[in-house]
Amino acid sequence: MDYTFDKDILDGLTATNKNLSSKYLYDDAGSKIFQEIMHMQSYYLTDCEFEILSLQAQQIVDKLAFNVPFNIIELGAGDGFKTFKLLEYLEKNSIAFHYIPIDISKKAMDMLTYKLKERLPNISIKPKVGDYFKVLKELKQQKTPSLLLFLGSNIGNYSHVESINLLELFNKNMHTGDKLLLGIDLKKNPITIHNAYYDKNGITKRFNLNLLIRINKELDADFKVNNFDFYCHYNPVTGEVKSYIVSLKKQQVVLNKLTTVINFEQNELIWTELSKKYDITEIQNLAKMTNFSIVENFLDCKHYFSDSLWIK
Ligand code: AVI
Repeated sequence: MDYTFDKDILDGLTATNKNLSSKYLYDDAGSKIFQEIMHMQSYYLTDCEFEILSLQAQQIVDKLAFNVPFNIIELGAGDGFKTFKLLEYLEKNSIAFHYIPIDISKKAMDMLTYKLKERLPNISIKPKVGDYFKVLKELKQQKTPSLLLFLGSNIGNYSHVESINLLELFNKNMHTGDKLLLGIDLKKNPITIHNAYYDKNGITKRFNLNLLIRINKELDADFKVNNFDFYCHYNPVTGEVKSYIVSLKKQQVVLNKLTTVINFEQNELIWTELSKKYDITEIQNLAKMTNFSIVENFLDCKHYFSDSLWIK
C-alpha cells in the first residue's frame, strides 16, 4: 500500500481549501499526457530549453571548467531528450564524463538508457532509480566533481519555502566547486504564459482530470470525471500559474478504500499545481539564499527561459 499517497489525498480532499499535490499527476497515464503537453506548440518551455542546450552547449561546458572527468547527475531525468544535445556535444568533443540520470520511474530510466545507448553508444551511462537525495548522498562519497541538472522548470512546481529547502538540500549534497544547471521559466507576456497552460485542445485539462481517474483506480473512488472541469490562472505580478479542478455541481464522492465521503459544492476548487515564473532578480535572490553563486544565466533567443548555471 502506498501509505503516503493515501494520506496525502485524504488530507488534501478534506482540507478547507481542497488541494492535491502536483507530484501525483505523473502516474503512467499522466506521464504520457505530459509528453503530449511538451509537444504542444503553445507549451514553449520545451523548445526554449532545447534551443539553449543545443546552441549554447559549448558556452555551458566552457563555464564548467572541470579539468578531470566529471559526473552529470540529472534529477528527474524523464525521457532525457533535452539533455541529449549537451551529452552529444561532450561526446563529439571527447570530453570525459559519466551521465547519471535519476528518476523514480524505472520504466523511464530503462527507456532513456535504451535510447541513449542507441544514439550515443560511447558515453558512460549509470542510471539510478530512486530517491534523489539517497543517490546524491551516495555520490558525495566519491571525489568526482559533479554537474547537477534540474531542468524543465521543475523548480517552478515548488512553493517559495519548498524551493529554498530543496536547493539547500542540493547544496548540502554537493562538493565546493560542483555546479547546478537549473531550468527556470521566466516572466514574459502574460498571454503567452496563459496559452501554455490553458491550451485550446484541452490536453492540460486531461492531464489534471487524470488525477481523478488515478484516485478512482487506486483508492476505489467514484469521481465522475465529467462532473469536473479545469481552470487555471496566471498572476503576472507574482509570476504564479495556479491550476485547479472545478466541481461543476454539488456532489459527493466516495473513497471506498479510505471509507470516506467527500462533499463538493458547486464551483468548489481543488488546487492541483503551482507553476512559478521568475525574473532575473528573483533568480539572484534564490541563489543567494541557498548559498550558491550564479556563474551565468543562459537564455534562449526570445528570453523566455533560463538555464542558470550556479556554483557551490
Ligand atoms: C513539470 N512542470 C515543470 C510542468 C510545468 O510547466 O509546471 C508541468 C505542467 N503542468 C501543466 N503543464 C505542464
